Amino acid sequence: MLTLLKLLKDGRFHSGEALGAALGVSRSAVWKQLQHLEAELNLPIHKVRGKGYQLASPLVFLNAEAIALNAPSLAWPIHVSDTIDSTNAEALRLIDAGHAAPFLVLAEQQTAGRGRRGRKWVSPFAQNVYYSLVLRIEGGLRQLEGLSLVVGLAVLQALRELGVLGAGLKWPNDLLVVDKKIAGILLELVGDPADICHVVIGVGINVNMQKAEEVDQRWTSVHLETGVAVDRNHLVAQLGIQLQRYLERHKASGFSALQGEWEQNHLWQGQVASLIAGSSQVDGVVLGVDRQGALRLSVDGVEKIYSGGELSLRLRDDS
Ligand code: ATP
Ligand code: BTN
Repeated sequence: MLTLLKLLKDGRFHSGEALGAALGVSRSAVWKQLQHLEAELNLPIHKVRGKGYQLASPLVFLNAEAIALNAPSLAWPIHVSDTIDSTNAEALRLIDAGHAAPFLVLAEQQTAGRGRRGRKWVSPFAQNVYYSLVLRIEGGLRQLEGLSLVVGLAVLQALRELGVLGAGLKWPNDLLVVDKKIAGILLELVGDPADICHVVIGVGINVNMQKAEEVDQRWTSVHLETGVAVDRNHLVAQLGIQLQRYLERHKASGFSALQGEWEQNHLWQGQVASLIAGSSQVDGVVLGVDRQGALRLSVDGVEKIYSGGELSLRLRDDS
């Protein structure tokens, strides 16, 4: 099926006969495969009598050489899959198999893309970026402090480079345009965080996605925000450049050097919000983050600090 898609990717018309000849199958087998393509990968195909078949919009596939050309300073080996359960899961398997970090895992599609706390990340074929960068951390805990927030800054800059000017951050790991989620970050760790460990920096960015009924919260994409279809290889290269820049600053000076910049880009600074941890909830005014990236909340006029992977921040309706 993917071979057929690669023949159609230019967005031009191809006759059933020509496609059949290229694939070595009959015209009716081509027709069946096209139906699968539409149904399983959610890619609309135009069928015009006398002309043949055409993808509703042309596709540019992920390509390690194109990424390297767009970001020559990045030396990370890139693993690209057509379909994978989760790029983070694949990255963890590669660490296990002894692959030397840093390296990058990308996929056209995830069948079990994951968000925080086992939630699902909707990951349709060839529309978005599913990105997992693996780093080896030798410096102990300080190098992990605020790391997911620093990644948020890098994603934000990459989105701005592509013209998404209204994007901002939501503590701890979301990128939103006003109240619509455009990207999410999931860090996973293996090894001893106090000594030597590997961190998988998972980033999902909605790029060319225009419809996704399965997403159960407000969302947007680069295409929806800018009106322009994006070459994902360009975005992946930009993200790499920004990550390299921010990770170097973080390694050299710690999160405290980026705390102010993070707060300037936090969409909910000064807002009244609820912090939810399981069944308990605390309401307060968002003051910002501390030198480790923990949330600072003013609760009944007293500053309190919250950190941990199980916390979710929600705007209060009356803020
Ligand atoms: P919080 O982190 O504050 O709990 P959240 O509700 O965004 O916020 P996350 O675990 O960060 O939760 O993200 C997972 C959620 O993101 C899913 O439950 C789903 O609602 C949503 N989601 C899944 N896929 C996408 C996508 N491609 N684009 C936007 N949102 C998505
Ligand atoms: C979230 O907002 O909850 C985090 C979403 C993270 C999704 C990305 S997509 C690439 C990487 N692989 C995964 O399975 N998850 C992350």
